[in-house]
Amino acid sequence: MKKLWGGRFSKDTDKLVEDFHSSISFDQKLYFWDITGSIAHARMLGKIGVLTAEESEQIIKGLEEILAEIENKQVTFDPAAEDIHMNVEILLTEKIGAVGKKLHTGRSRNDQVAVDVRMYLRHEMEHIHGQLLELLEALLNIAMKHKETIMPGYTHLQRAQPITFGHHLLAYGEMIKRDITRLEDNLQRCDVLPLGSGALAGTTFPLDREMVAEELGFSHVCLNSLDGVSDRDFIVEFMADAAICLMHLSRLCEEIILWSSQEFHFIDLDDAYSTGSSIMPQKKNPDVAELMRGKTGRVYGNLMGILTVMKGLPLAYNKDMQEDKEGLFDTVETWEKCLLVLTPMLKTMTVRREDMLKASKGGFTNATDFADYLVREGVPFRDAHAIVGQAVAYCLDKGCALDDLSLEEFKGFSPLIKENIYEAISVYTCVAKRNTIGGPSVEQLNRTIQEGLDFLKIHRGEH
Ligand code: ARG
Repeated sequence: MKKLWGGRFSKDTDKLVEDFHSSISFDQKLYFWDITGSIAHARMLGKIGVLTAEESEQIIKGLEEILAEIENKQVTFDPAAEDIHMNVEILLTEKIGAVGKKLHTGRSRNDQVAVDVRMYLRHEMEHIHGQLLELLEALLNIAMKHKETIMPGYTHLQRAQPITFGHHLLAYGEMIKRDITRLEDNLQRCDVLPLGSGALAGTTFPLDREMVAEELGFSHVCLNSLDGVSDRDFIVEFMADAAICLMHLSRLCEEIILWSSQEFHFIDLDDAYSTGSSIMPQKKNPDVAELMRGKTGRVYGNLMGILTVMKGLPLAYNKDMQEDKEGLFDTVETWEKCLLVLTPMLKTMTVRREDMLKASKGGFTNATDFADYLVREGVPFRDAHAIVGQAVAYCLDKGCALDDLSLEEFKGFSPLIKENIYEAISVYTCVAKRNTIGGPSVEQLNRTIQEGLDFLKIHRGEH
C-alpha cells in the first residue's frame, strides 16, 4: 500500500518496520475523538474559505458515516495505514473520493493526536470523577451508620486509642476528596486545544482556532505551537493522580484484608465479593481487595513509564511520544475497574461491632485517657505517663485490663484516683471526650459528614 506520506520514498516500508511502528492496534480506541476533531477542523476550514462549503459538508458527512460504520463494527483497520489518523483519512478518501484528501489541510498528525488524547482523557476523567464521588458517598453513608461503632485505632499496627469505625472510614473520605480535587485541577490543564499547532510551527492558513475550541468544548487554545504538540503534562499528571488514588485504595484494601482475617474479625465481606480456594474448602478469601492492592503496581509503573519517555525529549514531536498511549489506556481502565468494584464491595460488607468493641477494650487503648485523668488531678503529664506505664505493667502481669483494677489497686498507683476513674477510662468516654475539630466524637463526625455531603453537592455541580 502506498503510504499517505510516501511521495519522497522509492521503496515500501519493511514489514518489520511496519509492525514495529504501527499503533492502530491500540490507538483505534481514539476513533470517536479523532473523527470528532476532524469534523470540527473540516467545518472550520469551510468557514474560513480554505474549503468550499460543499467540500466541507462532503467531508463532514463522510466522516459521520465512517463513525457509524466503525460503531457498527463494519470497519477493519489496516495496520499498514499505521495509526487511527491515517486509517480514518484513507477510509474517507475511499468513501468520498479526492475531496477527502483535503481534510488534512493546515493540520499535522502531531496536533491531531494531541487533541484526540486530550478529548479522550477529559471524557474519562469526568467518568472517574463521578466514580470517586460515588465512592465518597458510600464512605459517608457507612460512616453515618457507624458513628458510634467503637474500634481500636492503631499506630504501628498496635492498638493505640479507641476511635469509631465511622471515624476510620472518614479518613479515607478525606483522601478521596483530595483525589477528586486533584482530578478537577488536572482537568483545567487538559482543557486546552492544541489543534492548530500544525507539525510544530502553526500553519500559513488562517485557521480559526477559537471556533474549533468552541466546537470541541475547550476553554483555551494553546499559546505556543511547539508546546502544543510536545506537551504531555496532562497525561503525566493524570497518571500521578491515578497513582496517588490507587495508593489510597491499596491502603484501604490492605485494611479490609486485615479486618476480614480471623485474627481481627472486624468485618465480613459479602460472598459475592469474595472467592474460595480450589483445595481448602473452608476458605473465603478477600481476593478483590488483594487484586486492587496489586494493581497499584502497574499504575505506578505506567507513571514511571511516561515520565521516562518524556525525559530528555527535544522539542517538538518525537515518535517516542506514541508510547504515551498504552500505559494511559491501561491506567484509565485499571482505575475505573477498581472503583467499579470497590464501592459495592464496601456497601455490602458486614461490620462486626461486638468484635471491634472487644478489641478496643483490650490492648490498653484507654491508657492515654488514664494519664489525662491524672493530669486533670494536677500530676504533670510526664509523671502521669510513668504512673500509667506501671499500672499497665501490673495489669499485663495479672492478665487484666485497666478497667478491671479495683479502686484500692488504682490508689496504689496514685492516691489522687477516685471512683470516677472508671467512667473516665471507659472506651465510650475516650471517644466522646475527643471532641477537637477532626476528632472521633459524634459531634465532630457529624460535622465532617455534613461537610462531605456539601462537598458532594458542590462537586457534582448541584450548587
Ligand atoms: N501515531 C502517532 C502517535 O501516536 C501519531 C503522530 C505521528 N506523527 C508523526 N510525525 N509521525 O504519536
